[in-house]
Amino acid sequence: MSEPSGQELYERIPTKVFEDASLAVCEVAKEIAEAIRARQAEGKSFVLGLATGSTPVPLYRELVRMHREEGLSFANVTSFNLDEYFGIESRHPESYHRFMREQLFDHIDIPEAQINIPQGAVAREEVFEACQAYEEKIEACGGIDVQILGIGRTGHIGFNEPGSGPHSRTRLVTLDRLTRLDAARDFQGEHNVPRYAVTMGVGTIMDARKVYLLAWGRSKAEVIKAAVEDAPVESLPASFLQAHSNAYFILDTASASELTRNKYPWLVGFPAWTPELARESVTHLSLKLGKPLLKLVDKDYQENGLSELVTEQGPAYGLNIRVFNEVQHTITGWPGGKPDADDTYRPERALPARKRVLVLSPEPQDDVLAMAATLSRLVAHGHEVTVAYLTSGSLGVPDEEANWAADLMLEAGDSAIASDVLRELEEKGAFSEDSPRLRTFKSYLRRNEARASLEMCGLSKSCIRFLDLPFYEKGRYRRFEVGEEDVAAMSRLIDEIKPHQIFVTGEAADPSSVQAKSFSVFENAIRSFSSEPWYKDCYVWLYRSDGREWDIHQVEMAVPCSPDEVKAKAQAIYQHRSQRSQLPSMNADQSEAWEQAVERNRGTAVLYDKLGLAEYEAIECFVRWSTVEGASK
Ligand code: F6R
Repeated sequence: MSEPSGQELYERIPTKVFEDASLAVCEVAKEIAEAIRARQAEGKSFVLGLATGSTPVPLYRELVRMHREEGLSFANVTSFNLDEYFGIESRHPESYHRFMREQLFDHIDIPEAQINIPQGAVAREEVFEACQAYEEKIEACGGIDVQILGIGRTGHIGFNEPGSGPHSRTRLVTLDRLTRLDAARDFQGEHNVPRYAVTMGVGTIMDARKVYLLAWGRSKAEVIKAAVEDAPVESLPASFLQAHSNAYFILDTASASELTRNKYPWLVGFPAWTPELARESVTHLSLKLGKPLLKLVDKDYQENGLSELVTEQGPAYGLNIRVFNEVQHTITGWPGGKPDADDTYRPERALPARKRVLVLSPEPQDDVLAMAATLSRLVAHGHEVTVAYLTSGSLGVPDEEANWAADLMLEAGDSAIASDVLRELEEKGAFSEDSPRLRTFKSYLRRNEARASLEMCGLSKSCIRFLDLPFYEKGRYRRFEVGEEDVAAMSRLIDEIKPHQIFVTGEAADPSSVQAKSFSVFENAIRSFSSEPWYKDCYVWLYRSDGREWDIHQVEMAVPCSPDEVKAKAQAIYQHRSQRSQLPSMNADQSEAWEQAVERNRGTAVLYDKLGLAEYEAIECFVRWSTVEGASK
C-alpha cells in the first residue's frame, strides 16, 4: 500500500478543484454525456438525479449547449429531482418544477413522462404515500445512475437538514431557519418561504451509483471544509457522502479555499515559499499559538510543520519582523493615499492628492456593508467619490415594504400610483412575479434607502449613479444573462470618470449571483481600457460584502475605524430598511446585516491585535485586483 499523500491525510472524499465553475461543469457535463450516450448505444435508459438552486445552473447551461450544438439527446434519460417545497403549486415562480423547466427541461428533448419531481402540492395526509411512491419509482427505474447535488450552508443535501439520518428516505421535512433565510430573497420575504419541503433522503442519495456534489463561491468554503475534512456527523448531512464509494466533490477555487491543501499548503506538501505564502503561514502560526508575531521563536516554527520555512528564510526573529512590517504596512487611515507623505510602504499612492474614486456596488447596500467607514474617509479627505449602484435591487424588496410605502403615499394624497401599486400587490399574492411597474416602484424604494445611507457617509445625491443594468432588469435570480448593453453601460461610466481608484466586489461569488454577474460586467468593461493612460494609473480594490472577510494574510489595505465610525457605519447600513430582517434577530448567527458587518470588522481588528499590531475598534479591508486575466493579486 502506498503512503497516503498529505492531501489524503485531510480529505475524506475525492475532491477536484477547478479554476472556476465553468471549467468544472464542462468536465461533469462531459462525463454525464458520455454515460448517456453509452446507454443509448446499448438501447438502455439512463437515470439522472437532479438538483435545483444556483449551483447546478451552469451545469444545465452546458448540457443545453451540448444538446443544441453537439446533438446530445436526452430521449433515453429518466430524471428524478431531489426535492420540492411543500405547499406550493408547480406554477409558483419559485417552485422547483418551474425552475427545472426554465433551466433545463424546456430546452432539451427529455420526454415529459420521464421527468420526476416530488410533488409539493399534495394534501398533507397524502404526502407519506407520495413519498413512498417516489422511492418505488426510483427503484422501478433501476436506481439513480448519477446524482447531482448542491450543498446548503447548513450542510444539507437535498433538503436533508442537520439531524437527518444517513438512512433517511424520501419524506416531508421542516426547513432550517438558515435555509429559509437564504431563500427569503427568492420569495420576496422570509414569511413567504415555505416551512416544509419534500426531499429524497440521505439514504436515497447514497443509493445512487455515482454522486457529484458541486459547490461554487466563498460562501460555501466553510461548509465544504467540514464536509470534506471532518468526521461524518448528523449535524452536517453532506458529510455522510464520505461513506459513498463513488462520490466526488467538484469545487471552484473559492469554495475550496478553506481546505487544508489551499489554506495551509505546507501541511500537505512542500510548497515553494513565496513571500505571500510565508506571510500566510507566519500569521497563521501566530494566531494558532496565540503569540504575537514578534514573539515567535524557531521552536514554534519547527514544532508546527514550518521547519523548512524557518530554515530557508529564518532565523525566526528576522522572518517575524519581515512579516510584521508587511502587515503593518497594510494599515492606513488614508484609503485614497496620504498627500505629502512618503508612500513607499503605503497601500495607496500619495498623488494625485485628490483622486477620482469610483465605488461599484452590485446591489444597493453592498457598498456600505463592506466600506461605509472607508467611504466616509474618502469623502472627508476631499476625493471626488462616485458610488454607482449597478442594479436596482428591486428583486430584494419584500412586498410588505412596497405596501408600506404605497400606503404612505396614499395617505399623503398621491393616490394614482399608490392605488395601482396596492391593487397589484393585492392581486399578485405570493404566487406571481412582480410586474415591471411594481419592480420600478420597488427600485425607487431602494434608491431612497441608498441615498439616505450614503448621506450618512457624507455623500451628496449628485455623487450617486443608478445604472439599472439590463441583465438585472430583464432577469430574475439564477436567470441573469449578461449582455453587451450591460458592458456598454459600465464602460460609459468608467470612461466618463476615468477613475484613479475603483472599489468593486463579486470576483469570488457564486457565478449566478448578482455580485458575480456584476463583476463579470466590470471585468469585460475594464479590459477595453487597458491601454488607456489613465488606466495605467488606476488601482482596483476588491471589497467583500458577503458574510466572509478576506483572510488576514491576503489583506493589502486595512482601514481602521474609530468607535464613532463604527456607529456611523451601522447607521448607514440601517438605512436600507427593506433589507432588514422581517423577524427580530434570535441569535448571533442570524443577526441583522449591520450587526454582522460591524462584527466582521471588529473581528479583523481583533486579529491585527492578536498579531501584535495596534488595537483598533474595527477594520475594513481590501485586496488589490490585478488586471492579469481575472486574477486577483
Ligand atoms: C436543491 C437542493 C439544495 C441546494 C442547496 C444549495 O434541489 O437540493 O440542497 O442544492 O440548498 O443551494 P444553492 O445552489 O442555491 O446554493
